[in-house]
Amino acid sequence: MIIDFETAILLLSNNDIVALPTETVYGLAGKANSELACSKIYKAKGRPNNNPLIVHVSNLEEAEKYGYFSPDAKKIASVFSPGPITYVVPKKTSDICNVATASLDTIAIRIPNHPTILKIIGEVGPLAMPSANMSTKISPTTPDHVIKSFNGAIPVLDGGSSTFGLESTIIDFSVENPTILRYGFITEIDIENILHKHIFTMDSISEVNKNSLAQNIKAPGSLSKHYSPSCPIKINVTESAFDEVVINFGNSKLNGAYSFNLSESGNLVESAQNLYLMLQSAEDLVLQNKLSSISVAPIPNVQIGLAINDKLIRASKK
Ligand code: TXA
Ligand code: MG
Repeated sequence: MIIDFETAILLLSNNDIVALPTETVYGLAGKANSELACSKIYKAKGRPNNNPLIVHVSNLEEAEKYGYFSPDAKKIASVFSPGPITYVVPKKTSDICNVATASLDTIAIRIPNHPTILKIIGEVGPLAMPSANMSTKISPTTPDHVIKSFNGAIPVLDGGSSTFGLESTIIDFSVENPTILRYGFITEIDIENILHKHIFTMDSISEVNKNSLAQNIKAPGSLSKHYSPSCPIKINVTESAFDEVVINFGNSKLNGAYSFNLSESGNLVESAQNLYLMLQSAEDLVLQNKLSSISVAPIPNVQIGLAINDKLIRASKK
């Protein structure tokens, strides 16, 4: 069901949950200080309750009520927020409920760059908001995707298509060496250019550490199946079959029963914007037409291509 702004405010104030547009992907929002609302979020998504939610606030001053921002974290926030980046910082004692942060001693905070969300936060306070999809499935970039994901059970405020189409970059400032936990539009090079120090990524730490971090949900969705369609998907494909839906990139020439192109001109930003949109449509076509799979052409593993490939690798995990 599509709802208007006033209804969204009313439902949220009542500790209910609603799907809201953001500049990255649609989020499933509830008041971050309400145990009841946050519990409803985990339940609706089928998400394990040890996997914490991002708390969305309207500015850095508010963010600092809930977490300790180091000088480096503040510097980065002053450049990139509001925007598609989330900071993991040591948690302060506040009214943000333990259900939202899964009782960790850190908190993930984002200042979204979207007028509607900022207005809503202004009215109801900080929002806990994971992506508005069932756990492990493809993230939504349109109201239709949210409706499909929850079989219409979640009210949605329509804000059109998400501009970025990929989740925020997550950077951990609670550790000695700032570490990118999830790739996104803002890359480690962007951060390094400002802090003039080496920024670690999940790929630059050892497998052993990665596994133990994943167990503590330090690495979001780390190594696990995620972002995945309800049908087989193959990646880095150079030869496809007639009974597949193919997703090309640039001048790749995969042929199939249906075909998409993430970006005819080989533009990675455009590809990121189209990725979930095309995966959702490709999934529908495979299921409706009883085709065998989705096949995706190779995507250059640079800049935002790192985030795209990271999502595709997880999507293709069995
Ligand atoms: O762009 C986005 O970030 C979207 C929009 C709606 O804001 N939200 C989003 O939330 O992607 P979600 O829940 O799908 O992903 C948040 C990730 C989770 O994988 C979780 O493990 C991680 O953030 N996370 C949350 N709190 C954390 C913490 N204290 N330490 C490490 N990771 C944390
Ligand atoms: Mg998600």
